[in-house]
Amino acid sequence: MNLEGEFYTSVLIKTLVLVNNMRLYGPDHNITQKSLSEFDGLLKNIFSQFDEFTLLIRGWHIYLMGERIKISSINFPYIKQLIELAQQKEIGGIKISKNYKIEEISKFAELLASEQLKQHDINNNLITIGIGSIKILPPVAPYQTEFIDPQKRAKQVYFETINMVKNLTTIQPTSQKTYYTRFTAGVLYLIDTLKTSESLLLGLTVVKNYDDFLYNHSVNTAILSLSLGVRIGLKSKELLKLGQAALLHDIGMINIPRSILQKESFLTEDEWKMIKTHPVSGVKITLNLMGLSEETAPILLAILEHQKGYDGSGYPDFVKTNRISLFSRIIQIADFYDAVTTPRFYNPIPMSPAEAIAYTVKYSGKLFDPLLIKHFINLLGIYPLGSLVFLSSGEWALVAGQPQDKSKIHKPIVLVIKDQNGRDIPNKMIDLSQSDLEIIRAESPWKYNIDPAEYLV
Ligand SMILES: [Fe+2]
Repeated sequence: MNLEGEFYTSVLIKTLVLVNNMRLYGPDHNITQKSLSEFDGLLKNIFSQFDEFTLLIRGWHIYLMGERIKISSINFPYIKQLIELAQQKEIGGIKISKNYKIEEISKFAELLASEQLKQHDINNNLITIGIGSIKILPPVAPYQTEFIDPQKRAKQVYFETINMVKNLTTIQPTSQKTYYTRFTAGVLYLIDTLKTSESLLLGLTVVKNYDDFLYNHSVNTAILSLSLGVRIGLKSKELLKLGQAALLHDIGMINIPRSILQKESFLTEDEWKMIKTHPVSGVKITLNLMGLSEETAPILLAILEHQKGYDGSGYPDFVKTNRISLFSRIIQIADFYDAVTTPRFYNPIPMSPAEAIAYTVKYSGKLFDPLLIKHFINLLGIYPLGSLVFLSSGEWALVAGQPQDKSKIHKPIVLVIKDQNGRDIPNKMIDLSQSDLEIIRAESPWKYNIDPAEYLV
């Protein structure tokens, strides 16, 4: 048996997927059962060569059957996730002996998935119910803290998610199943990170990409959609589907010729017709990836409908309804906001974030779901992150955060970047809610050739 690269990675992924599915769906759901039997298959494979399954965590490293797993760009996200799970549970390792039964693995994964239980409680539970084949070891040394530096983690998650979407365009049909599992694990990780570091991830949505618009846009749309989803109280299972749909909403664009996507003038009628095919071709690509089931139908529907307005306007024309799904309504707002605030080949000076917010308010109840727009403004403020604002002092600043006090939504935290004479100012952050300075007006930073990401990320 080859214990190199791919196999190591699949042990990490299948362990994580089993625990995640147990958490999301519970032990009896067929999705959990499937991941349980996949994990069982993996153990059988290991026991054909070893007498014991051992997974040990030491600092930054994971050892499987005594061998250290080499960290690569492919397995890094899973190594991180496993270490974070272990940190949370205060676990130093897992041992499973050859005489295990699949029901015991199921019970063990259920204990591991339970939010409150730590290493000690899990071991006690295993002893109480008479499971002797599985043991959880305590940590041997303090955990490395670098993994949990929230700023670093948010950046890593952001750029890894961009790569994950990019990789979708190059996978062979035979590897689609593996990709889908990784994709699911990646989206769950994005959601986990969002729950602890929402403002950091929202801050990263100021990263725009002129040449390769699609991938940054997909991740920005997913972050904004998921933040909205959390605000309206969606449960984990729903957030997973929403995140998957948001990341894939524009994937049909990969079938549109680059000459059209990068055209510097307005599109002809025929070119527009091409663009309008992207929701349907996005559905086809996603169908190939995840198939049609009760779980995937809402994702496919959201991709199909994301260009439809709240009032039923927009395209595709054959969707004749003004009752579009909740996921579609969420993604439509996030998609619109990110798209219009990003410079494009045909429109190098996009709307300012504040203008985009004002537009969504103007068309709230027509193009956009009014209730969701209220949450969206609560989320981004009236001067969203990355807005270029001119202060009453004559200085230029970029909005870097929203005030704690929500009644002072017009007074965000700003990073002053230029003085009255347009000279650069380094590192001057002002909380306007604690200052007499006022915002005089907001404009698109791109109008002045300012890329907010260069200052804020
Ligand atoms: Fe789209």
